[in-house]
Amino acid sequence: MSPTHKIAVLPGDGIGPEIIEQAIKVLKAVEQKFNLNFELTYAPMGGAGIDAAGVPLPPETLKLAQESDAVLMGSVGDFKYDTLDPKIRPEQGLLQIRKALGLYANLRPVKGYKCLEHVSTLKPEVVNGIDVMVIRELTGGIYFGQPRAREGSGTQEKAYDTLVYTQPEIERIARIGFESALSRRKKLMSVDKANVLASSQLWRDVVNTVAKDYPDVELSHMYVDNAAMQLILNPKQFDVILTENMFGDILSDEASMLTGSLGMLPSASLGERKANGQRNALYEPSHGSAPQFAGQNKVNPIATILSLAMMLEYSFGYSQAASQIDTAIEQVLEAGYRTFDIMGPGATEVGTAELGDRIAAALLALPAAVAV
Ligand code: IPM
Ligand code: MG
Repeated sequence: MSPTHKIAVLPGDGIGPEIIEQAIKVLKAVEQKFNLNFELTYAPMGGAGIDAAGVPLPPETLKLAQESDAVLMGSVGDFKYDTLDPKIRPEQGLLQIRKALGLYANLRPVKGYKCLEHVSTLKPEVVNGIDVMVIRELTGGIYFGQPRAREGSGTQEKAYDTLVYTQPEIERIARIGFESALSRRKKLMSVDKANVLASSQLWRDVVNTVAKDYPDVELSHMYVDNAAMQLILNPKQFDVILTENMFGDILSDEASMLTGSLGMLPSASLGERKANGQRNALYEPSHGSAPQFAGQNKVNPIATILSLAMMLEYSFGYSQAASQIDTAIEQVLEAGYRTFDIMGPGATEVGTAELGDRIAAALLALPAAVAV
C-alpha cells in the first residue's frame, strides 16, 4: 500500500472550480492506474475566502495548506471584488499564501505540442519544438517591497512601490535556475535591467558569483526589454530563463503564447527544502480566473492538468505518472479535440468537462506502466 498524500485543493474563483474539477478527474485516474492514494481537502481562498470568512486567505485555509503535502490551486479574482479595499482583494490571498509558505521559486515550463504548432500567432517554424523553462522569483521584488503606499490627494496625490532584493533571496533562486539548467540543455539566461536598476545590478553580481559553482552551465545575461523582443524573434535560443518577480510575471504570459495559448501554461511554486527533505509546494495554472468565462464549460483545463502533473513529479517523484498525463494530453489533442482557445482547421471544439473526461480516459487506456 502506497502512502497517502495529503493535498489541499483550493479551487478559488471564476473558472477555478471547473478547471480544478478536470484536474481531480485526472488525479482519480492516476490513483486507479498507479495504485496511489491522495487525500483531498477542499478550502476557500481568493474571492471564495472573502465570501466564506471575510478575508482572501482564511486562517483555516492557510493552516490546511501548511499541514498538507502539496497545494493544488485553481485561480483567484472576480470583477465583483474590484471595488473592495485593495488590501482584501482576492489576489492578495494568492500573494499571502506564496509568502506564508515561502514559495520563492516559480517554475513555468513552456512546452509546445507538435499538433498545436499552427495554433500560435507566431510562425510554426519559429515555435515548433519549443521547450523553455521560465523560473520566476516569487516572494520578493516589487510585489512585496516596503515602503509602498498611496497618499495625498488631488495634484498632491502620489503612490510608490519598492523593488528590493537581498543577496540571499537572489542566491537561492539563482541556484534553482542553475540546477534546472543542469537537468536540461545547460543554458541559463538571467534576465534583468542592470543598465538602470540597482536591484538588477545586485542580481547580476550574485548570479555571476553562483555561476562559479556550476561550470557546466553556460550563463548569459539579457536586459528584460531585449528578452521580451527575443522571445518573439527567436524563442528557441532559450533553455532556462531566470528572472525576478515582476519581469517573470510579464515574460511568462508572453512566453505562454509560444505554445498557442495561456491555457496551456502550468506552474509549480516551491519553497526551501525542509528537514524531512520535502518542500512546501503549490501548483496552479499560470493564467488568471477569467471571470467572463466562468461557469460556461468553455475554457481550457490543460494548464491545470499539467500543474497536477508537475505536483506528481516535483512533490512526490511520480515521474512516470506525470509523463503519462503528458502523453494522454498529447493523444487527445492529436485526435483533434480542443477547447476554443486552441482550435484549428479540422479540429473538434469541446467544452472543459469533455476535454477533462477525454484526458482521464486516455490516461487509463495507456499501456500498463511499471509500478511507480
Ligand atoms: C500570476 C498572476 C498573479 C501574479 C496575480 C493573480 C496576483 O498574474 O500568477 O502570474 O501577478 O503573480
Ligand atoms: Mg501573471
